[in-house]
Amino acid sequence: MPLERGRRIMCMNIRINNKIYEAREEETVLDVCRREGIRIPTLCAFSGLPKETVCRLCLVEINLTDKLVPSCAFQVCEKLEVTTESERINKARRINLELLWADHAGKCAGCRKNRMCELQNLAEEYKIENFHFVPRKEEITDVEERDLLKDNKSRVVIDNKNPAIFRTTEYCIECRRCINICPDKAFGFNHRAGDVVVGTPYEKTLDCSFCGKCVEVCPTAALTDQNDFGKIIKDLDNLKKMAVAVVDWEMEKGVLRQLKNMKSQKNFDDLLTELGFEKIINLSKEETKNEAIKNIKADYARKEKINPESIVIFFISNKIEKKANKDEYLDYILSEREIARLARDRKII
Ligand code: FES
Repeated sequence: MPLERGRRIMCMNIRINNKIYEAREEETVLDVCRREGIRIPTLCAFSGLPKETVCRLCLVEINLTDKLVPSCAFQVCEKLEVTTESERINKARRINLELLWADHAGKCAGCRKNRMCELQNLAEEYKIENFHFVPRKEEITDVEERDLLKDNKSRVVIDNKNPAIFRTTEYCIECRRCINICPDKAFGFNHRAGDVVVGTPYEKTLDCSFCGKCVEVCPTAALTDQNDFGKIIKDLDNLKKMAVAVVDWEMEKGVLRQLKNMKSQKNFDDLLTELGFEKIINLSKEETKNEAIKNIKADYARKEKINPESIVIFFISNKIEKKANKDEYLDYILSEREIARLARDRKII
Protein backbone atom coordinates (compact mmCIF):
# COMPACT_ATOMS: atom_id res chain seq x y z
CA MET A 1 0.00 0.00 0.00
CA PRO A 2 1.49 3.44 -0.87
CA LEU A 3 2.49 5.60 2.07
CA GLU A 4 0.30 8.60 2.85
CA ARG A 5 1.68 11.82 1.37
CA GLY A 6 3.89 13.74 3.73
CA ARG A 7 4.10 10.95 6.29
CA ARG A 8 7.61 10.35 7.56
CA ILE A 9 9.06 6.96 6.76
CA MET A 10 10.10 5.17 9.91
CA CYS A 11 13.52 3.61 10.06
CA MET A 12 14.55 0.82 12.39
CA ASN A 13 17.40 -1.52 13.05
CA ILE A 14 16.97 -5.19 12.34
CA ARG A 15 19.41 -8.05 12.79
CA ILE A 16 20.29 -10.25 9.83
CA ASN A 17 22.71 -13.11 10.35
CA ASN A 18 23.79 -11.48 13.61
CA LYS A 19 24.63 -8.14 12.07
CA ILE A 20 22.64 -4.94 12.52
CA TYR A 21 21.14 -3.28 9.42
CA GLU A 22 18.99 -0.22 9.01
CA ALA A 23 15.61 -0.86 7.39
CA ARG A 24 12.68 1.30 6.33
CA GLU A 25 9.23 0.32 7.51
CA GLU A 26 7.85 -0.35 4.03
CA GLU A 27 10.67 -2.73 3.14
CA THR A 28 10.49 -6.50 3.14
CA VAL A 29 13.31 -8.66 4.46
CA LEU A 30 14.26 -9.45 0.87
CA ASP A 31 14.44 -5.73 0.02
CA VAL A 32 16.90 -5.13 2.85
CA CYS A 33 18.95 -8.20 2.00
CA ARG A 34 19.19 -7.21 -1.66
CA ARG A 35 20.20 -3.70 -0.75
CA GLU A 36 22.86 -4.96 1.62
CA GLY A 37 24.18 -7.60 -0.76
CA ILE A 38 22.95 -10.58 1.25
CA ARG A 39 22.00 -13.20 -1.28
CA ILE A 40 18.69 -15.00 -1.03
CA PRO A 41 17.62 -17.25 -3.92
CA THR A 42 14.41 -16.16 -5.67
CA LEU A 43 12.54 -17.24 -8.76
CA CYS A 44 9.36 -15.21 -8.63
CA ALA A 45 10.44 -11.93 -7.01
CA PHE A 46 11.93 -9.45 -9.46
CA SER A 47 13.10 -5.94 -8.57
CA GLY A 48 10.39 -3.38 -9.25
CA LEU A 49 7.59 -5.91 -9.73
CA PRO A 50 4.88 -6.88 -7.21
CA LYS A 51 5.86 -9.82 -5.03
CA GLU A 52 3.79 -12.90 -5.82
CA THR A 53 5.26 -15.26 -3.23
CA VAL A 54 4.81 -18.39 -5.29
CA CYS A 55 8.24 -20.01 -5.65
CA ARG A 56 8.97 -20.21 -1.90
CA LEU A 57 12.71 -20.23 -2.46
CA CYS A 58 13.29 -17.09 -0.45
CA LEU A 59 12.38 -18.74 2.87
CA VAL A 60 14.24 -17.50 5.94
CA GLU A 61 14.11 -18.04 9.70
CA ILE A 62 12.96 -15.22 11.99
CA ASN A 63 12.77 -14.83 15.75
CA LEU A 64 9.00 -14.16 15.80
CA THR A 65 7.75 -17.56 14.69
CA ASP A 66 8.95 -21.14 14.46
CA LYS A 67 7.80 -21.30 10.85
CA LEU A 68 9.96 -20.34 7.90
CA VAL A 69 8.69 -17.17 6.23
CA PRO A 70 9.09 -15.95 2.62
CA SER A 71 11.47 -13.02 2.84
CA CYS A 72 9.93 -11.38 -0.25
CA ALA A 73 6.63 -10.91 1.57
CA PHE A 74 7.68 -10.45 5.18
CA GLN A 75 7.79 -6.79 6.11
CA VAL A 76 10.44 -5.61 8.55
CA CYS A 77 9.47 -4.68 12.11
CA GLU A 78 11.15 -3.65 15.34
CA LYS A 79 13.32 -6.29 17.04
CA LEU A 80 13.28 -8.52 13.98
CA GLU A 81 16.09 -11.08 13.77
CA VAL A 82 16.59 -12.96 10.53
CA THR A 83 18.71 -15.93 9.54
CA THR A 84 19.13 -16.43 5.82
CA GLU A 85 21.14 -19.67 5.75
CA SER A 86 20.73 -22.82 7.87
CA GLU A 87 20.32 -26.53 7.33
CA ARG A 88 16.56 -26.24 7.82
CA ILE A 89 16.27 -23.39 5.31
CA ASN A 90 18.43 -25.26 2.86
CA LYS A 91 16.25 -28.36 3.13
CA ALA A 92 13.03 -26.40 2.57
CA ARG A 93 14.49 -24.55 -0.42
CA ARG A 94 15.70 -27.82 -1.90
CA ILE A 95 12.21 -29.37 -1.62
CA ASN A 96 10.59 -26.38 -3.31
CA LEU A 97 13.25 -26.32 -5.99
CA GLU A 98 12.89 -30.03 -6.62
CA LEU A 99 9.17 -29.58 -7.21
CA LEU A 100 9.84 -26.88 -9.78
CA TRP A 101 12.71 -28.78 -11.33
CA ALA A 102 10.82 -32.07 -11.71
CA ASP A 103 9.35 -30.99 -15.02
CA HIS A 104 12.56 -29.55 -16.40
CA ALA A 105 15.21 -32.17 -15.73
CA GLY A 106 16.80 -33.72 -18.78
CA LYS A 107 15.68 -30.95 -21.10
CA CYS A 108 18.54 -28.51 -20.63
CA ALA A 109 20.92 -29.68 -23.35
CA GLY A 110 18.50 -28.78 -26.14
CA CYS A 111 16.99 -25.76 -24.44
CA ARG A 112 17.31 -22.21 -25.82
CA LYS A 113 18.12 -20.94 -22.35
CA ASN A 114 20.72 -23.57 -21.43
CA ARG A 115 23.27 -21.89 -19.08
CA MET A 116 21.12 -18.77 -19.08
CA CYS A 117 18.25 -20.20 -17.04
CA GLU A 118 17.67 -19.10 -13.47
CA LEU A 119 16.02 -22.38 -12.52
CA GLN A 120 18.85 -24.45 -13.97
CA ASN A 121 21.43 -22.33 -12.15
CA LEU A 122 19.67 -22.83 -8.83
CA ALA A 123 19.15 -26.56 -9.43
CA GLU A 124 22.89 -26.83 -9.98
CA GLU A 125 23.72 -24.72 -6.96
CA TYR A 126 21.46 -26.78 -4.69
CA LYS A 127 22.59 -30.02 -6.33
CA ILE A 128 19.10 -31.20 -7.21
CA GLU A 129 19.52 -34.72 -8.51
CA ASN A 130 16.99 -36.97 -6.83
CA PHE A 131 13.30 -36.91 -7.52
CA HIS A 132 11.20 -37.62 -4.50
CA PHE A 133 7.90 -36.28 -5.77
CA VAL A 134 7.54 -36.90 -9.46
CA PRO A 135 9.00 -40.02 -11.06
CA ARG A 136 10.95 -39.64 -14.27
CA LYS A 137 9.03 -40.59 -17.41
CA GLU A 138 10.88 -43.86 -17.89
CA GLU A 139 10.21 -44.84 -14.28
CA ILE A 140 6.43 -44.75 -14.72
CA THR A 141 5.02 -48.23 -15.12
CA ASP A 142 1.42 -47.54 -14.14
CA VAL A 143 -0.82 -47.04 -17.21
CA GLU A 144 -3.03 -44.50 -15.47
CA GLU A 145 -0.02 -42.42 -14.45
CA ARG A 146 1.27 -42.56 -18.00
CA ASP A 147 -2.06 -41.30 -19.30
CA LEU A 148 -1.94 -38.50 -16.79
CA LEU A 149 1.49 -37.52 -18.04
CA LYS A 150 0.21 -37.60 -21.63
CA ASP A 151 -2.66 -35.38 -20.61
CA ASN A 152 -0.24 -32.91 -19.01
CA LYS A 153 1.79 -32.88 -22.20
CA SER A 154 -1.27 -32.27 -24.36
CA ARG A 155 -1.90 -29.07 -22.42
CA VAL A 156 1.43 -27.57 -23.37
CA VAL A 157 0.87 -24.44 -25.45
CA ILE A 158 3.47 -23.52 -28.04
CA ASP A 159 3.14 -20.14 -29.72
CA ASN A 160 5.46 -20.01 -32.68
CA LYS A 161 3.28 -17.71 -34.76
CA ASN A 162 4.20 -14.21 -33.69
CA PRO A 163 7.34 -12.64 -35.15
CA ALA A 164 9.13 -11.52 -31.98
CA ILE A 165 8.49 -13.84 -29.05
CA PHE A 166 8.50 -17.62 -28.84
CA ARG A 167 6.34 -19.02 -26.06
CA THR A 168 6.14 -22.54 -24.70
CA THR A 169 4.30 -23.31 -21.49
CA GLU A 170 6.37 -26.47 -21.09
CA TYR A 171 9.00 -24.43 -19.28
CA CYS A 172 6.68 -22.10 -17.39
CA ILE A 173 7.08 -22.18 -13.60
CA GLU A 174 4.12 -19.85 -13.04
CA CYS A 175 6.27 -17.14 -11.47
CA ARG A 176 3.92 -14.47 -12.88
CA ARG A 177 6.68 -12.02 -13.72
CA CYS A 178 5.33 -11.74 -17.30
CA ILE A 179 1.87 -10.89 -16.00
CA ASN A 180 3.26 -8.12 -13.83
CA ILE A 181 5.67 -6.59 -16.30
CA CYS A 182 3.61 -6.59 -19.51
CA PRO A 183 2.40 -3.04 -20.28
CA ASP A 184 -0.20 -4.46 -22.67
CA LYS A 185 -1.66 -6.90 -20.14
CA ALA A 186 -1.12 -9.69 -22.64
CA PHE A 187 -0.81 -12.38 -19.95
CA GLY A 188 -3.17 -13.55 -17.26
CA PHE A 189 -4.51 -16.68 -15.65
CA ASN A 190 -6.29 -19.48 -17.46
CA HIS A 191 -8.37 -22.31 -15.96
CA ARG A 192 -9.62 -22.31 -12.40
CA ALA A 193 -8.84 -23.47 -8.85
CA GLY A 194 -5.77 -25.70 -8.54
CA ASP A 195 -5.53 -25.84 -12.31
CA VAL A 196 -4.62 -22.19 -12.82
CA VAL A 197 -1.86 -21.55 -15.36
CA VAL A 198 -0.27 -18.41 -16.76
CA GLY A 199 -1.21 -17.80 -20.38
CA THR A 200 -2.70 -15.50 -22.96
CA PRO A 201 -6.48 -15.03 -23.34
CA TYR A 202 -7.83 -18.32 -24.75
CA GLU A 203 -4.16 -19.24 -25.32
CA LYS A 204 -4.17 -17.29 -28.56
CA THR A 205 -0.93 -16.10 -30.12
CA LEU A 206 0.59 -13.12 -28.31
CA ASP A 207 -0.96 -9.90 -29.47
CA CYS A 208 1.03 -7.04 -27.97
CA SER A 209 3.55 -4.31 -28.77
CA PHE A 210 6.41 -6.84 -28.47
CA CYS A 211 8.45 -4.67 -26.12
CA GLY A 212 10.28 -7.83 -25.00
CA LYS A 213 10.05 -7.07 -21.29
CA CYS A 214 8.44 -10.45 -20.60
CA VAL A 215 11.33 -12.23 -22.34
CA GLU A 216 13.77 -10.21 -20.29
CA VAL A 217 12.26 -11.25 -16.94
CA CYS A 218 11.25 -14.84 -17.73
CA PRO A 219 13.50 -17.02 -15.53
CA THR A 220 13.27 -20.06 -17.82
CA ALA A 221 12.72 -20.74 -21.52
CA ALA A 222 8.96 -20.21 -21.40
CA LEU A 223 9.41 -16.89 -23.24
CA THR A 224 12.37 -16.41 -25.55
CA ASP A 225 13.31 -14.36 -28.60
CA GLN A 226 11.85 -15.55 -31.86
CA ASN A 227 14.38 -16.11 -34.62
CA ASP A 228 15.50 -18.67 -37.14
CA PHE A 229 18.82 -19.54 -35.55
CA GLY A 230 19.70 -22.11 -38.20
CA LYS A 231 19.39 -19.44 -40.91
CA ILE A 232 21.33 -16.89 -38.84
CA ILE A 233 24.26 -19.27 -38.40
CA LYS A 234 24.21 -20.19 -42.08
CA ASP A 235 24.40 -16.50 -43.08
CA LEU A 236 27.02 -15.72 -40.45
CA ASP A 237 29.25 -18.53 -41.67
CA ASN A 238 28.64 -18.01 -45.38
CA LEU A 239 32.02 -17.09 -46.89
CA LYS A 240 30.32 -15.47 -49.87
CA LYS A 241 28.50 -13.04 -47.62
CA MET A 242 29.70 -10.23 -45.42
CA ALA A 243 28.12 -10.24 -41.97
CA VAL A 244 27.78 -6.68 -40.69
CA ALA A 245 26.74 -6.05 -37.08
CA VAL A 246 25.00 -2.72 -36.63
CA VAL A 247 24.83 -2.02 -32.90
CA ASP A 248 21.98 0.10 -31.53
CA TRP A 249 23.30 3.01 -29.44
CA GLU A 250 20.98 1.99 -26.63
CA MET A 251 22.51 -1.46 -26.21
CA GLU A 252 23.85 -1.86 -22.72
CA LYS A 253 26.17 -4.54 -23.94
CA GLY A 254 25.42 -6.60 -20.88
CA VAL A 255 25.51 -9.85 -22.78
CA LEU A 256 28.32 -11.30 -20.75
CA ARG A 257 26.34 -11.12 -17.54
CA GLN A 258 23.76 -13.49 -18.97
CA LEU A 259 25.96 -16.53 -19.16
CA LYS A 260 26.98 -18.53 -16.15
CA ASN A 261 30.55 -19.74 -15.74
CA MET A 262 31.81 -17.18 -18.22
CA LYS A 263 35.52 -17.71 -18.67
CA SER A 264 36.58 -14.12 -19.02
CA GLN A 265 35.23 -10.62 -19.44
CA LYS A 266 35.19 -9.73 -23.09
CA ASN A 267 34.81 -6.48 -24.86
CA PHE A 268 31.50 -6.52 -26.72
CA ASP A 269 33.02 -5.66 -30.09
CA ASP A 270 35.70 -8.34 -29.67
CA LEU A 271 32.97 -10.82 -28.89
CA LEU A 272 31.05 -9.89 -32.05
CA THR A 273 34.23 -10.35 -34.09
CA GLU A 274 34.80 -13.76 -32.52
CA LEU A 275 31.24 -14.71 -33.34
CA GLY A 276 31.94 -14.14 -37.02
CA PHE A 277 30.77 -10.59 -37.73
CA GLU A 278 33.19 -9.08 -40.21
CA LYS A 279 32.28 -5.47 -39.69
CA ILE A 280 30.89 -3.76 -36.61
CA ILE A 281 29.15 -0.41 -36.85
CA ASN A 282 28.31 1.21 -33.52
CA LEU A 283 25.50 3.68 -34.14
CA SER A 284 25.32 6.99 -32.34
CA LYS A 285 22.03 8.28 -31.00
CA GLU A 286 21.77 10.70 -33.93
CA GLU A 287 22.52 8.03 -36.50
CA THR A 288 19.69 5.87 -35.15
CA LYS A 289 17.37 8.84 -35.01
CA ASN A 290 18.08 10.40 -38.36
CA GLU A 291 17.45 7.07 -40.00
CA ALA A 292 20.94 6.87 -41.51
CA ILE A 293 20.50 3.21 -40.74
CA LYS A 294 18.13 2.92 -43.70
CA ASN A 295 20.98 3.44 -46.12
CA ILE A 296 23.53 1.50 -44.18
CA LYS A 297 23.64 -1.45 -46.56
CA ALA A 298 23.83 0.69 -49.71
CA ASP A 299 26.39 3.09 -48.17
CA TYR A 300 28.58 0.29 -46.96
CA ALA A 301 28.38 -1.54 -50.30
CA ARG A 302 29.38 1.64 -52.14
CA LYS A 303 32.27 2.30 -49.76
CA GLU A 304 33.61 -1.23 -49.96
CA LYS A 305 32.76 -1.55 -53.66
CA ILE A 306 30.80 -4.73 -53.15
CA ASN A 307 27.42 -5.96 -54.21
CA PRO A 308 24.79 -4.96 -51.59
CA GLU A 309 23.23 -8.37 -52.02
CA SER A 310 26.28 -10.00 -50.55
CA ILE A 311 25.92 -8.00 -47.33
CA VAL A 312 23.87 -9.32 -44.42
CA ILE A 313 22.88 -6.70 -41.86
CA PHE A 314 22.39 -7.91 -38.29
CA PHE A 315 20.87 -5.16 -36.19
CA ILE A 316 21.94 -5.80 -32.58
CA SER A 317 19.25 -4.25 -30.48
CA ASN A 318 16.99 -5.04 -27.59
CA LYS A 319 14.09 -3.37 -29.37
CA ILE A 320 12.66 -6.66 -30.43
CA GLU A 321 9.43 -5.00 -31.51
CA LYS A 322 11.41 -4.31 -34.70
CA LYS A 323 11.16 -8.02 -35.45
CA ALA A 324 7.42 -7.60 -35.71
CA ASN A 325 7.80 -4.70 -38.06
CA LYS A 326 11.08 -5.45 -39.76
CA ASP A 327 12.48 -2.93 -42.20
CA GLU A 328 13.65 -4.55 -45.40
CA TYR A 329 17.16 -3.07 -45.04
CA LEU A 330 17.73 -5.09 -41.86
CA ASP A 331 18.16 -8.81 -42.45
CA TYR A 332 18.08 -9.88 -38.81
CA ILE A 333 17.42 -8.32 -35.45
CA LEU A 334 19.35 -9.92 -32.61
CA SER A 335 18.87 -9.08 -28.95
CA GLU A 336 21.71 -9.26 -26.45
CA ARG A 337 20.16 -12.50 -25.20
CA GLU A 338 20.59 -13.97 -28.65
CA ILE A 339 24.19 -12.78 -28.82
CA ALA A 340 24.72 -14.61 -25.52
CA ARG A 341 23.07 -17.69 -27.02
CA LEU A 342 25.36 -17.54 -30.05
CA ALA A 343 28.39 -17.14 -27.79
CA ARG A 344 27.26 -20.11 -25.75
CA ASP A 345 26.67 -22.29 -28.82
CA ARG A 346 30.06 -21.37 -30.22
CA LYS A 347 31.67 -22.06 -26.85
CA ILE A 348 33.25 -18.62 -26.81
CA ILE A 349 32.20 -17.85 -23.27
S1 FES B 1 10.83 -14.98 -4.17
FE1 FES B 1 9.66 -15.15 -2.38
S2 FES B 1 8.29 -16.71 -2.86
FE2 FES B 1 9.37 -16.45 -4.71
